[in-house]
Amino acid sequence: MLKNPAEKYIPFVPIQMERRTWPDKQITAPPVWCSVDLRDGNQALIDPMNVEEKLELFHTLVDIGVKEIEVGFPSASETEFQFFRTLIEGGHIPDDVTIQMLVQARPHLIQRTFEAMAGAKNVILHFYNSTSTLQRKVVFHTDMEGVTQIAVDAARLIRALSEPIIRSGTNLRYQYSPESFMGTEMDNAVYICQRVLEELGATPENKVILNLPSTVENCMPNYFADEIEYFINKLPSRDCAVISLHPHNDRGEGVATAELGMLAGAERIEATLFGNGERTGNVDMITLAMNMYTQGVDPGLDFSDINHIRTVYERCTKMKVGERQPYAGELVFTAFSGSHQDAINKGVQYRKENRSPLWEIPYLPIDPADVGRQYEPIIRINSQSGKGGAAFVMQQSFGYDLPKAMHAEFGHIVQVETDRVGTELQPQRIFELFQHAYVDISSPYTLLRHAFQETADAQGRSHVVFRGTLRHKETVFEVCGEGNGPIDAFFNAIHGQKMDRFTFVDYKEHAIQAGSDSMAVAYIQLRDAQGQDIFGVGVDHNINLAPLRGILSAINRAVTAKQ
Ligand code: KIV
Ligand code: ZN
Repeated sequence: MLKNPAEKYIPFVPIQMERRTWPDKQITAPPVWCSVDLRDGNQALIDPMNVEEKLELFHTLVDIGVKEIEVGFPSASETEFQFFRTLIEGGHIPDDVTIQMLVQARPHLIQRTFEAMAGAKNVILHFYNSTSTLQRKVVFHTDMEGVTQIAVDAARLIRALSEPIIRSGTNLRYQYSPESFMGTEMDNAVYICQRVLEELGATPENKVILNLPSTVENCMPNYFADEIEYFINKLPSRDCAVISLHPHNDRGEGVATAELGMLAGAERIEATLFGNGERTGNVDMITLAMNMYTQGVDPGLDFSDINHIRTVYERCTKMKVGERQPYAGELVFTAFSGSHQDAINKGVQYRKENRSPLWEIPYLPIDPADVGRQYEPIIRINSQSGKGGAAFVMQQSFGYDLPKAMHAEFGHIVQVETDRVGTELQPQRIFELFQHAYVDISSPYTLLRHAFQETADAQGRSHVVFRGTLRHKETVFEVCGEGNGPIDAFFNAIHGQKMDRFTFVDYKEHAIQAGSDSMAVAYIQLRDAQGQDIFGVGVDHNINLAPLRGILSAINRAVTAKQ
């Protein structure tokens, strides 16, 4: 790289704006969406899609709710031409979907494009030529009049060829792109677009789409927004045009460019799924739409099953969606950091306790469920995870709502395991650690048999008698006790036994659904003679028995730990 890049690179010269209004605006409604996946996206693939793949992606775009789809470049090759015929003749295009056909502003290509559209219900004929200062200088060796003439001649031809097709019943609209608009002098862009509008006979009832591409993204999004606002203000026939953007992503700012461009007045966006397209791609339709969604604006597109869309996209294009791709990547709903995990945990709890419909969860800008993703993989437990992470997994994946006081102890058990294996732990392994540490503990004390007898007095106060047979190593012994509930009766029953040296601190019980079965889980907190707290967990179909198993679990854990 150069020490002084200014020796080689010419900085973008922004237009001078005295007043701009776009910074004070907000996006409150979605744009008209146009997908260019099958054209810009396809032309940029190492292996362009075959007919089946194009069809599958077309139907996926329709299912998402895209109503304008640029299908290709029919005059570019026989394959492209035939694909249009397959779509039209095969009845693949719903009545409310418009197919868009791209063509350069060249007479023989325009002619061929009209042949491809026969029989289509709704068509946008999209023609373009390049207008930027750079392209005029190094590619076309012509001035602004030259490129304007090309566009105007094409518009005239298009209008002439349109009559029979419109008479045959096709709803035909026009779109013109001054290609490389971002690098065009704005007064020149206004001039050529106005001439095209006039030549096409645009009216407020029959608007023409003016698509303003950042063919190569070579300025900051705020400069681009200035361009759009300037262009719109200066265009004499503004009311006869739909202002559309076609952002590429060379600076990685395609989404910002589209967003600021909308603030500046753009009404339509050409985009692709996952930002596929030439070089660094086109603007990503999903990010743009979901960004609106997180601000409470319905984007009018449905990404409820983002994994399915990703699978279809990857299969058809043979491209890979990155793990950190917004809203869709493998890792975007995963918190590795312990403090993030704790905050997410608290957010979920807060939302539950307040029965709030609002999404106020730190570190998660969107509810993963809204795009068909699950809570389960949100937290991955690795050596960086905090104490709440493991408890969160137990709750989200298995329905165990551990008491707060137990989080640190269980978190520590999981941490020891992550340090041991050196990799992250999957939820199933965390469950196994929980079972092993708290539930599958039946020695040295085992409950062999038991019976409860419950009566209630005239005031409804309950009285429970517990009788049980316990084994301690080789010794089997009987216990019996009474109390105002099962836990009380059990503690009275073991009074005088060795296990008597624990006091009861706290207890929590809830139901969990295991398949079609409902089980009760009880978390018991006991304190030993040294003031040390110990937890136990009991799981049983019987809600009276679950806490007793929890008490024995805690006692067995304490005794085993001392040995
Ligand atoms: O990037 C671009 O300018 C294009 C045009 C054909 C609209 O793809
Ligand atoms: Zn493009």
